[in-house]
Amino acid sequence: MKSLLEEIEACRLAFRQAIQRVKDRASLEEVRATFLGRKRGKVTALFEAFKNLPVEEKPFIGRELNNLKNELTAALEKKEAELIEVKKDKVERIDLTLPGKKRYLGSPHPITLFLEEIERIFLEMGFSIEEGPEIETDYYNFEALNFPPHHPARDSWDTLYIKNDLLLRTHTSPVQVRVMERQRPPIRIIVPGKVFRREAIDPTHLPMFYQVEGLVVDEGVTFAHLKGTLEYFLKALFGEKTKVRFRPSYFPFTEPSAEVDIECTVCRGNDSSCQVCGGSGWKEVLGAGMVDPQVLKNVNIDPERYSGWAFGLGIERTAMLLYGLNDMRLFYENDLRFLRQFRRK
Ligand code: PHE
Repeated sequence: MKSLLEEIEACRLAFRQAIQRVKDRASLEEVRATFLGRKRGKVTALFEAFKNLPVEEKPFIGRELNNLKNELTAALEKKEAELIEVKKDKVERIDLTLPGKKRYLGSPHPITLFLEEIERIFLEMGFSIEEGPEIETDYYNFEALNFPPHHPARDSWDTLYIKNDLLLRTHTSPVQVRVMERQRPPIRIIVPGKVFRREAIDPTHLPMFYQVEGLVVDEGVTFAHLKGTLEYFLKALFGEKTKVRFRPSYFPFTEPSAEVDIECTVCRGNDSSCQVCGGSGWKEVLGAGMVDPQVLKNVNIDPERYSGWAFGLGIERTAMLLYGLNDMRLFYENDLRFLRQFRRK
């Protein structure tokens, strides 16, 4: 029979071999149980045997046993720490040879950028910016703007009604009325915002689009101011050489009224089948006129003392002309290849 000392040595060798094969937590725990487990652990069994030794052998063998136990405990701890390191290493190691992940920085929508540009030009001229509700009452969208009920002029605005008296505003002009109700002249404002019409979608029509309204009311305001300001604005936007033309027109809330066209930047009048201008060489970008005295009366501003002018600009069609696009729908298809071409300057 082996002496206890030999068994201690055998146990040490067996442990050293076993610990070398440990690759993970599970096999580590197995080795720990095999050697130090309370019930079947090999070292535990040696301690049991130790109890039966003659007293004179105990001090020496006891020391050997304790040394063995300490060696095993230390080796197990060391192995455990190594395993944790390996795991961390796997998580944290960065492979610099892999292609990087590209992060796309968002940017404002081209229409937002374009609105900012328009706002900048008018702010420089001393205008301030106002806003109004997208859901309007019949009164603000039509009545106060001098459209009598059932008047055929309402037909030019294909209105989306919510209820009898509530509708999606068809233009930003109701904000003229809202501002004049709460503010006395001098008034010099622009109103950017969404408007809605029951339109069939095509390259130049959408059921939702943006307008920028403008309104100036003061003493001694004339059509010359309207013309000068709008010409200045369109040239600031499109360049000094841009051709602008005023055509007589009709709106219930302005008198006289005009529509303003700019030269078609897509075909410059050279393509009789141009999708954007229909071959005319011109593209209407805004409606304008002197504020009708009746509209001033509706908001208790004395038309004998004050006069004003207003305009409404279609944003998408103006942006199309500026960027040379032939289809308005591009703005709302959310194709990133299109949208990424526009950046804040
Ligand atoms: N509101 C008109 C439209 O949507 C444009 C307009 C605004 C015309 C202000 C005259 C004055 O067509």
